[in-house]
Amino acid sequence: MSIDVARYLEPSLAHSPDARGISTMAQNLVGSEILRVAGEVRAQIAAGHSILNLTVGDFSSTEFPIPEALSAAITDALAAGHSNYPPATGVMECRVAVQKLYKERLGLEYPVDSVIIAGGARPVIAALYMALVNPGDKVVYGVPSWNNEHYCTITGGVGVPLGTSEADRFFFHTEDLLPHLADARLLVLNTPQNPTGTVMSAETLELIAKEVVQENLRRQAEGRPALYVMFDQIYWMLTFHGSEHHNPVSLVPEVAPYVLFVDGISKGFAATGLRVGWGVGPVDVIKRMGAILSHLGAWAPKPEQVASAHFMNDTAAMDAFLARMHDEVGERLDIIARALNALEGEGWTVHSIRPQGAIYLSLRIDLRGKEDRGRQGARDRRGRPPLPPERGGDRGDPVPLLRGAGGHRLVPRQRGRGEQGRLRQHRGPAPRRAREAQLRPTCSSTSPTRTTPRGRSGRGS
Ligand SMILES: Cc1ncc(COP(=O)(O)O)c(C=O)c1O
Repeated sequence: MSIDVARYLEPSLAHSPDARGISTMAQNLVGSEILRVAGEVRAQIAAGHSILNLTVGDFSSTEFPIPEALSAAITDALAAGHSNYPPATGVMECRVAVQKLYKERLGLEYPVDSVIIAGGARPVIAALYMALVNPGDKVVYGVPSWNNEHYCTITGGVGVPLGTSEADRFFFHTEDLLPHLADARLLVLNTPQNPTGTVMSAETLELIAKEVVQENLRRQAEGRPALYVMFDQIYWMLTFHGSEHHNPVSLVPEVAPYVLFVDGISKGFAATGLRVGWGVGPVDVIKRMGAILSHLGAWAPKPEQVASAHFMNDTAAMDAFLARMHDEVGERLDIIARALNALEGEGWTVHSIRPQGAIYLSLRIDLRGKEDRGRQGARDRRGRPPLPPERGGDRGDPVPLLRGAGGHRLVPRQRGRGEQGRLRQHRGPAPRRAREAQLRPTCSSTSPTRTTPRGRSGRGS
């Protein structure tokens, strides 16, 4: 006999949702918006719609399968019996592989106790926030940025979003940061940046790192707790067009006691579903994060930790894979950017900026009839005005920029089949020139909202 539990769960028979007593934090927390959008897109694709998916920062596994050597090593690790609990701080060989990676690729020699492995970068971020941020503590980050407001909700931190603009490649000005340094607990930096696809310059990063060192010298003298930097470099292996990735510790080694790297295999190895991430930083903080993760159990699966170690130790396989990622992600982003720039050149009110890193590019498609009214008239798609600067609204860009993600193959629909030249998701190979040749006519024929041509001055691509 089975019990029809659903009957007993009827809202009318128990506390109403409002009276249930859900924690304030859980009531206030908004689930990941981008994962919701990704789910909606997946459902549309499953329903047979032809969709060019530029939404979530993920990779089509047919276009970007994980490295073969990594896949084989996972199978081997399972066959070798790695199916039990991993240590809460990570499998030692994986921690050592990260230690070696940082030494060889970033020139940073950390002790192995500075490295913690978790189930992707998210649990590293969550554990870091929990280890450092008390309710009421200030957390400073630029806007747009990735999910910091939600980690503030989880920990009770008070977010201090700093506005940015396209002119600054969506990184805040150091002078806007300085007034907040004295009482901030955590400063969050992410480069290459999600969602903008831009890279922070060495000069800016160095300046910020020096300010953090100075601030901590003052705090040490006054016996006040430290200011930490969460440095999210999950996309550091993906930079394009001569852009270089920099990190604060290489630029200003004295900042090392205050910097926590957030990193993992999700993006560089196109392995978002394998869930292997890591944090690297001062040993005492990493230990507290380990204690938190030991209760959350948000560990990376053991076979995948063993296999990630194996892959990271295979320099030739890793280099070959990264070279391919670099070419193919860069090419996709370039194709989108060039098509949008061509449209702009023809007078359409679209605009994109050249991607520097990560798997994104920023683009603007002006809202119909709003393009010349400046911030006063601009509205987002729900009719809301742009955010004011104190809430992280941009510093004067008339219409918010959108993000496009390049983890999928892009080719136009075949001529003569349906709407001519529409971009679409496609599995088959297509030579680069042919693809690009077909992209321009495509895009310029799809939009019904042609508006007055406008010059390109001041809108570098
Ligand atoms: C900037 C940034 N940090 C962290 C993450 C989380 O990575 P993971 O999938 O490994 O949890 C993402 C994912 O998109 C990201 O864009």
